[in-house]
Amino acid sequence: RGKRAFIAGVADDNGYGWAIAKSLAAAGAEILVGTWVPALNIFESSLRRGKFDESRVLPDGSLMEITKVYPLDAVYDKMEDVPEDVKTNKRYSGSTKWTVQEVAESVKQDFGSIDILVHSLANGPEVTKPLLETSRNGYLAALSASSYSYISLLKHFLPIMNQGGSSISLTYIASERIIPGYGGGMSSAKAALESDTRVLAFEAGRKRKIRVNTISAGPLRSRAAKAIGFIDTMIDYSSANAPLQKELSADEVGNAAAFLVSPLASAITGAVIYVDNGLNAMGVGV
Ligand code: NAI
Repeated sequence: RGKRAFIAGVADDNGYGWAIAKSLAAAGAEILVGTWVPALNIFESSLRRGKFDESRVLPDGSLMEITKVYPLDAVYDKMEDVPEDVKTNKRYSGSTKWTVQEVAESVKQDFGSIDILVHSLANGPEVTKPLLETSRNGYLAALSASSYSYISLLKHFLPIMNQGGSSISLTYIASERIIPGYGGGMSSAKAALESDTRVLAFEAGRKRKIRVNTISAGPLRSRAAKAIGFIDTMIDYSSANAPLQKELSADEVGNAAAFLVSPLASAITGAVIYVDNGLNAMGVGV
């Protein structure tokens, strides 16, 4: 049978999560997605109304099917953790079972198991502020949404992952090199995510033989990236300076993800894989 993938962090057809879903679907996987609760209604209605149909086209001409969309807020592990104001917020109160634990339970009930877990989400409320101006709360929120969210997802999905299963997340080179503008503790959050990738590869490998990798992706004009404010500058910088002078397409990251979660990558775990037109290898701009 085909593999089943759960992709956390899909709310439109512009981001890496969508592109990864498409590459996995093209390779024959069944697609389940986790969509941030406040973005759920618009995503589901857009899907229903055919707004994404053009971007659903797979290489063989068929349309990607998303078997089920789960509401998810990866900042909360279980209902007891959710503050009252969020519970009663009208963007949240219309949905149920969206904490990480509940989503994993729902997927287990609906499908029994998965093969592939993808984390394609990040959030840093103070991302536009320099680190020196970042509040403690802003910093911790960035780590909670962008780093711990992955630990939590893997912890809760690991028990329902099949042998040979594999997991990936998305990171950014601001973790290891200075990228002014990627603030609010988001650079710190990506550093944590990359370090955790190694430790989780060990723990999930020993426990369940599950592989854990992260893709360090080049700049993409996604919804999240546009909110940071410097994405066009980063894309231009990459085109000017990277070994491969072309715009990076989300599909290139999707295809690398499909490789990494496939048996072709069966000895790759704990790795940070660059999919960035080679920009990471440059020492100076030329
Ligand atoms: P995106 O906007 O398509 O994806 C981010 C998703 O995270 C959105 O769907 C948003 O609704 C979701 N999200 C935010 N907080 C959440 C929460 N608490 N619970 C559940 N979902 C939540 O943007 P993009 O850029 O494709 O981001 C995907 C991943 O790729 C992120 O980890 C990002 O840091 C990473 N990345 C992006 C790059 C870029 O230039 N766009 C470069 C390198 C890495």
